[in-house]
Amino acid sequence: MNVQLRVYVPPHPLIKHWLAVARDAATPSVLFRSAMTELGRWLTYEAIREWLPTIDTQVNTPLAPCAATFINPEVPIAVVPILRAGLSLLEGSQALLPLAAVYHIGVVRHEETLEPSIYLNKFPEQFDPQTRVLITEPMLATGGTITTVMGELTQRGIDPAMVRIISVVTSPPALQKLNLAYPGLTIYAATIDETVNEKGYIVPGLGDAGDRTFGTF
Ligand code: URA
Repeated sequence: MNVQLRVYVPPHPLIKHWLAVARDAATPSVLFRSAMTELGRWLTYEAIREWLPTIDTQVNTPLAPCAATFINPEVPIAVVPILRAGLSLLEGSQALLPLAAVYHIGVVRHEETLEPSIYLNKFPEQFDPQTRVLITEPMLATGGTITTVMGELTQRGIDPAMVRIISVVTSPPALQKLNLAYPGLTIYAATIDETVNEKGYIVPGLGDAGDRTFGTF
């Protein structure tokens, strides 16, 4: 079977609106953070549609027994924000997945070589193989950081088919790299931009998502 990376850009007006706010260089940090929270919320809403495990049962309404579907509490749900910038989408994701465990991972890119290195990893030694993982990473530029994180997850028992990545701006180099390394993956993004410059920034993009979130310019 020929498995391919799936990338969805939901055509939702709220996603377009908050992307426009986040892209605008004149948007101050306080509003940028709100935009990222909203993008986290709506991208998560789209991403979990066929991913969140459910269980069919019955309830009694005041009038009669009735078929009912609940979220299955037996299946572990994990949210993985990639520090720093992934924290900007976390609040919106957590609003929809309040019972998910949050496993932080910190990855920094070398300023010149753009090589990623991990400086914090709160993953358990092994995940339950049923675990659904939602990664929050606003910018998929060269694909180095996300590939490193996927390596850490798969080494610990996660099946890429169980993973959803939410990202605000994605770009072809990252998507090509992920398609080669993890073709079973699914990504939900607000947009796919055309290029990545020599410094590893997406153009037009939205600038440095971490700096704009935390006001560190
Ligand atoms: N990380 C960012 O914050 N912005 C980019 O454009 C690329 C990576």
